[in-house]
Amino acid sequence: MSRSFRVGPGGRLSGRLRVPGDKSISHRAVMLGAIAEGTTRISGFLSGADAISTMNVFRALGVRLEGPVDDGVTVHGVGLHGLRAASVVLDCGNAGTAMRLLMGLLAGQRFASTLVGDESLTKRPMRRVAEPLQRMGARIETNAGCPPVRVLPSDGLHAIRYELPMASAQLKSALLLAGLYADGETVVVEPAPTRDHTERMLRAFGVDVRSDGPVVSLRGGQALRATTVDVPADLSSAAFFLVGASIAPGSDLLLEHVGINPTRIGCLEILRRMGADIEVVAQRQAGGEPVADLRVRSAPLHGIEIPHELVPLAIDEFPALFVAACCAEGRTVVRGAEELRVKESDRIAAMAEGLAALGFVTRPTADGIVIDGRGGDDAVFRAGRGAAHHDHRIAMSLAIAALRSSGVVEVDDTTNVATSFPGFVASARGAGLDIDEIGA
Ligand code: S3P
Repeated sequence: MSRSFRVGPGGRLSGRLRVPGDKSISHRAVMLGAIAEGTTRISGFLSGADAISTMNVFRALGVRLEGPVDDGVTVHGVGLHGLRAASVVLDCGNAGTAMRLLMGLLAGQRFASTLVGDESLTKRPMRRVAEPLQRMGARIETNAGCPPVRVLPSDGLHAIRYELPMASAQLKSALLLAGLYADGETVVVEPAPTRDHTERMLRAFGVDVRSDGPVVSLRGGQALRATTVDVPADLSSAAFFLVGASIAPGSDLLLEHVGINPTRIGCLEILRRMGADIEVVAQRQAGGEPVADLRVRSAPLHGIEIPHELVPLAIDEFPALFVAACCAEGRTVVRGAEELRVKESDRIAAMAEGLAALGFVTRPTADGIVIDGRGGDDAVFRAGRGAAHHDHRIAMSLAIAALRSSGVVEVDDTTNVATSFPGFVASARGAGLDIDEIGA
């Protein structure tokens, strides 16, 4: 059944909150654990639909997994060559990360696999991954560049050097995973830095991965050794609260144990440049990743031109950042963010439409958006009903806009919030948002 949110206007956010585990890291922990030798224990796992899809794919490929129980998962690794042909299609649900990384991992297997996804995933581009994998010798078929993706049995991959045509951690990761099965050294060159969780986690599993500026490389055939993975809270989920507390006067919120990997913190930098009051407290390391508590207090925001280099480092947080921009004094300009158009939805169009439904007109462009913020402490949105377009991040972004609305905000099609943020409604209520879920 389709769900929706009903969010009462105004309020402030306070207290402390630990948002669910990092989605990118949870997917990778299952994948690397599955092809490692030995038993990998994961804590802080994202027990959300996307990461569960990845677990189920590996179960179908013959890997024994236990959990999640209290956000803990145990993966009984089968080794680099231990995966078995699945007797079913591999359903990635809504998870682009699962499908793209799996394409790389499955490209070097001696059996065939078929990857499918939900309505949103079925529209997303897969050629960007299929093409370089084909250059490595993989045999991959797509439906005009989109899922379903058929990966045919491999007779061996060879390493390539590949310059990524776009900044994409999923593409980089797919090629590195395929590189584990290739003869020689796979070299990937990034046009701009993207999240480096795959590189960090491969190292934690004992693989020699070299990073030299934009160049990442690894030799094929290296065995992975099981390890423990402590997954930090997802900064991308924390972002809704960073924005919410920034725009709602009187807010003071502590977000606990959040991953602050330097390749992910574009949203922190952008919010700070807009005037946000975010304090990074008790910085520490967890499982090869930097982690901290984030204290955010409301502050007057001002519009900025988002620096180009911060775009890939904040790519998943733009829907929430657009809400911040509406509440900021002056103009915010986003450029070079065309990748937003091929996420779980076209996030530029979906947010422009959703904000317009709340009475706020923005100017979308081909590769970004221009937002003339209203500033001040008064309501900048009005009562309205927005559609999430099957996209978890659109749903949560429109929900937090209610903090600065003069009337009730309703959001339709919120079922997919569970892909990345199970328990969002309870967490948001606990922090002070007047939110109810309807149709649950
Ligand atoms: C991800 C990479 C990004 C991001 C996605 C997760 C990952 O996608 O938007 O939510 O885990 O590697 P792209 O690689 O398409 O930029």
